[in-house]
Amino acid sequence: MKIWVPSDAVVEVLSDLPGLECTVYDGTTALPGDVADVEVWVPPLITVPDVPGTLARMSALRLVQTVSAGVEQYRPHIPPGVVLCNARGVHDAGTAEWAVGAMIAVLREFPGFVDAQRDGEWTYHRTGVLADSTVLIVGHGSIGAALERRLDGFEVDVVRVARTARDGVHGLDELPALLPAADVVVLLVPATADTAGMVDAAFLARMKDGAVLVNAARGGVVDTEALLAEVKTGRLRAALDVTDPEPLPAGHPLWSAPGVLITPHIAGSTPASARRTLRLIRAQLGRHLAGESLDNVITDSY
Ligand code: GLV
Repeated sequence: MKIWVPSDAVVEVLSDLPGLECTVYDGTTALPGDVADVEVWVPPLITVPDVPGTLARMSALRLVQTVSAGVEQYRPHIPPGVVLCNARGVHDAGTAEWAVGAMIAVLREFPGFVDAQRDGEWTYHRTGVLADSTVLIVGHGSIGAALERRLDGFEVDVVRVARTARDGVHGLDELPALLPAADVVVLLVPATADTAGMVDAAFLARMKDGAVLVNAARGGVVDTEALLAEVKTGRLRAALDVTDPEPLPAGHPLWSAPGVLITPHIAGSTPASARRTLRLIRAQLGRHLAGESLDNVITDSY
């Protein structure tokens, strides 16, 4: 069975599974010649050129297993009969840890103190704090739950929002009523037609003065111009691991906007995610070869 994998590390972790013929395709080279014979594709984390064209040529394809939680690059183009699985769980630890670090960095003004350190200046002043605040998690899936576990101990109130309301979790429709009470709003929703531009001027206007928007979801969930308008006045602050556009071009006004901390989509790019990715791929391929049902099958928009 032919399989495309994103790295030699994946070849290695699959090496004891019988009957697999692995080709490394990391998205930076020309497509391997066996495109029409590939049964399983594990694409790389980076954006692959021409996903629709590539999928259209994969006539033997049965399974796409992403190494990302987000599947927006693949889901709209998956041919009928091909199963799409995401990497739910793999990036929980890295992303949740980033979100905690990012909210603390903004609230405790670490970026400003780093600037002052560079200039050798002792800029003593009081800062904000995470303790006693309300953290609104928008998109309470497995990363949201991991974030909540990590916030336990910081003496905060956590409010959960997800697409569908359930016990202890508010529905997205309740957001307008919940936003004004939140000190920190963490975005963890997938990129879908429903979430595109969800954080617009009206959403931001409902956030309280001094609140922090933390985006670990996708840049397109936030209307960049609307966010810029709010941070430029100093009313809101933000920590962004994802931006629209992405990568953020040199000279873009977000780079120099006050109170904005930007990291280059690195929340899940850690050795912890790498280890968990290998474990997931190994387990999924074992199931696929044994004809067992797979984990993380995408059945609707995500
Ligand atoms: C990373 O952004 C992911 O979707 O896992």
